[in-house]
Amino acid sequence: MGIFTRSIVSRKPNESMRLIVTTFFGVVFGFLIGLCFPKLSLTKFSLSTSILTAIDFKYTEYTKLGPSSSTHVSHPVGNNGSSANVTLRKIWVPSNPRGAERLPPGIVRAESDLYLRRLWGKPSEDLTSKPKYLVTFTVGYDQRKNIDAAVKKFSGNFTILLFHYDGRTTEWDEFEWSKKAIHVSVRRQTKWWYAKRFLHPDIVATYDYIFIWDEDLGVEHFNAEEYIKLVKKHGLEISQPGLEPNKGLTWQMTKRRGDREVHKETEEKAGWCNHPHVPPCAAFVEIMAPVFSRDAWRCVWHMIQNDLVHGWGLDFALRKCVEPAHEKIGVVDSQWIVHQSVPSLGNQGESLDGKAPWKGVRERCKKEWSIFQTRFSRAEKAYLKEINSTSR
Ligand SMILES: *[C@@H]1O[C@H](CO)[C@@H](O)[C@H](O)[C@H]1NC(C)=O
Ligand SMILES: *[C@@H]1O[C@H](CO)[C@@H](O)[C@H](O)[C@H]1NC(C)=O
Ligand SMILES: *[C@@H]1O[C@H](CO)[C@@H](O)[C@H](O)[C@H]1NC(C)=O
Ligand SMILES: *[C@@H]1O[C@H](CO)[C@@H](O)[C@H](O)[C@H]1NC(C)=O
Repeated sequence: MGIFTRSIVSRKPNESMRLIVTTFFGVVFGFLIGLCFPKLSLTKFSLSTSILTAIDFKYTEYTKLGPSSSTHVSHPVGNNGSSANVTLRKIWVPSNPRGAERLPPGIVRAESDLYLRRLWGKPSEDLTSKPKYLVTFTVGYDQRKNIDAAVKKFSGNFTILLFHYDGRTTEWDEFEWSKKAIHVSVRRQTKWWYAKRFLHPDIVATYDYIFIWDEDLGVEHFNAEEYIKLVKKHGLEISQPGLEPNKGLTWQMTKRRGDREVHKETEEKAGWCNHPHVPPCAAFVEIMAPVFSRDAWRCVWHMIQNDLVHGWGLDFALRKCVEPAHEKIGVVDSQWIVHQSVPSLGNQGESLDGKAPWKGVRERCKKEWSIFQTRFSRAEKAYLKEINSTSR
């Protein structure tokens, strides 16, 4: 500014006058060109030049700031350059997803996926593979060896998704597969909390099967591809691998049988089952290592309660999601796992009244089970009552 002022002052008055006039006409000429240009281009392009410039500017800003920043470019939708009566022609398609009725159906993408994309090149060439199956583990870093062994039992046909409950994620990059995996980190939450928030059926819609597994499973005798083959062969919509009978109480249904590929029914202690086709004698798997088909998951997701985070009682209600349940729910015996019972998440509790943290967690689990049962039976009764009153 200082240099500019001084240079004008040092010239003769006539010269500086000429300079000012020239500058003035230069500016006016530029302004007129600026006015004309968008009009000329409008006959060729549906987007006006000023918008293209704005997008280009935003792009430069975007690359400077890095990929984490967001851009806000306003697009005048439907602007074809004339005063088209667009705003009053609202599109209203009732069959569109809720909230998207104003959009032309051709642009609506109601479902998504978890496939990773790159930031450059043609979008159509982004994906070199489209895994058909999804496996999620809810993990703490202390269990990394076990998870590493488990992940290796899942082929490249699987998307790997880890839910971290201890806040440690970058440490996992010591494993090569971790760099391609998806990591979701929220402290001290449970598998079903994550599943409800991050596995919406519309988000995982590309996957034929979804494994929602705990971190303490021994997978030495398990192969995921073989497992999927058996699940398809026997028409299982909801399943789990057989559990090697070990110490502690296990349901008869989920115990591995050595003499077959799959079983769908069992016998329990006298009086435990009202009918041979209901849990825990049939139509039943546990919540530690369930596998859902896409359709079954679409139903089960809706059944998961936002406040009941441990999922207790869910196993007894799974049968409500498939029909006939005693044929579509089962245990795969020839691909089996060992439940190692590491009280990992239990230790993430908090000690109350001097009690050990895991005791508080266990009490909450039981409480949730009874709340879930009560809610379910009330909801069913209310529905049936309404049906009765409206059908009359
Ligand atoms: C632009 O709007 C005019 C006036 O409504 C319409 O007649 C014309 O078909 C539109 N052109 C395009 C390409 O949409
Ligand atoms: C715009 O369209 C609406 C309904 O289609 C019509 O009532 C209105 O007169 C139109 N306005 C103009 C300026 O063409
Ligand atoms: C992945 O899936 C394809 C198609 O179903 C199959 O041919 C291939 O063998 C699978 N990969 C592995 C490692 O099993
Ligand atoms: C509904 O009606 C059926 C018979 O029509 C009856 O058996 C049943 O108990 C009724 N349910 C309720 C909740 O009122």
